[in-house]
Amino acid sequence: STKKLWGGRFQEQAAAWVDQFGASISFDQLMAEEDIEGSLAHVKMLKHTGILSATDSDEIIAGLEGLRTDLAAGKLTFTVENEDIHMNIESLLTSRIGAVAGKLHTARSRNDQVATDFHLYVKNRLPQVIDEITTIQKTLVSLAEQNVTTIMPGYTHLQHAQPISYGHYLMAYYQMLKRDKERFEFNQVHTDVSPLGAAALAGTTFPIDRQFTANELGFASVYANSLDAVSDRDFALEFLSNSAILMMHLSRFCEELSMWVSHEFQYLELSDAYTTGSSIMPQKKNPDMAELIRGKSGRVYGHLMGLLATMKSLPLAYNKDLQEDKEGVFDTVKTVLPALKVFNGMLQTVHVNKERMQQATENDFSNATELADYLAAKGVPFREAHGIVGQLVLKGIQTHQNLQDMSLETLQQAAPQIEADVYHDLQSDVAVERRHSEGGTGFDQVKAQIAAAKEALS
Ligand code: ARG
Repeated sequence: STKKLWGGRFQEQAAAWVDQFGASISFDQLMAEEDIEGSLAHVKMLKHTGILSATDSDEIIAGLEGLRTDLAAGKLTFTVENEDIHMNIESLLTSRIGAVAGKLHTARSRNDQVATDFHLYVKNRLPQVIDEITTIQKTLVSLAEQNVTTIMPGYTHLQHAQPISYGHYLMAYYQMLKRDKERFEFNQVHTDVSPLGAAALAGTTFPIDRQFTANELGFASVYANSLDAVSDRDFALEFLSNSAILMMHLSRFCEELSMWVSHEFQYLELSDAYTTGSSIMPQKKNPDMAELIRGKSGRVYGHLMGLLATMKSLPLAYNKDLQEDKEGVFDTVKTVLPALKVFNGMLQTVHVNKERMQQATENDFSNATELADYLAAKGVPFREAHGIVGQLVLKGIQTHQNLQDMSLETLQQAAPQIEADVYHDLQSDVAVERRHSEGGTGFDQVKAQIAAAKEALS
């Protein structure tokens, strides 16, 4: 036999570089705390059910508690020889309390152990992500509140479409984040399930108590099927998928932000604290943080694709392929949490150039729909009104005039129904204010959205 914890049936030693290839300790030590918690719950259950004697159990419990203290103090060192976090902890425990440590693994396998650790890891991070999203939502709502009557061009195809309230724009992102939060909350339902007690794949003949360990670890329920318990990584895929969608949302905002701070737009200005300069061009103020959040969405998508590809066609139950499930998730946590934090800080300190935004709605044809609606309200079939206004727009382009700058005579030549009150309707702030339809950009509707958001956030 070899020195490995599982070395009984082995005669040959693997080369160090093969061990290195198979080991996961370089990254799964991130779950050291979860691993010790899982073992504590397991041994307490072994004691509770009488599978282990109280004396043995108490020795193991004390040993694990010592390891937990030393881990928190940064005093534990792990080795590649011990392959992964599970065997490193067991081996450290053995070196401290001796052979009795070997009883800890009764009625357990690394397969349900690693699944338990990974569930705990994700379960503990989900509330952090949800909290950071809530913080951004609050920032969005307060910025929206200050900008209900800030008028900006609304775009489709990146072309001026119709004027909208900047507050309305901000609340659109609030709504996206609301769905993100709901997805992470549902993710928690699938994560909050204990695989512990599934053992290797088939359960165990020992009279274990899975509800007891689930309770100890704060899991809401236990897996109903031991094969599913050790094979399932849906909770991790959901986390990656939800993170990918969240990052996609942030990337869209960051893209617009990057455009809107540019010289051509100048709708917004970022605080110096969230921008960087150039090593050659002294005038530069680059929206690096926005670009980086946009860029980092790519790596999160990559992690989702990576795990989906790893899981594809994977036979039940545990396969070593599953060791590839962790790094992408760890990196996603390491990417998403700071991205959310930076995003919030950037948003909190953004300067809104209200005049510039409004001006952009006054030197264009984004009030063309208003004129068509004006005619439709006077009984002209909308399709006909659309054609009339289209011709006026063409004339305006040729004569360098916007609709509101045309004389009443010119307008009446196109449509005799037009009267002097049309100029009121053609103002961009009026166009926004009047859009009272439910969920529209009308000031009253934006205010109602903000009120509902505040209620939901309180
Ligand atoms: N390091 C392994 C992983 O991360 C732990 C489970 C190993 N189980 C096994 N039967 N080899 O997946």
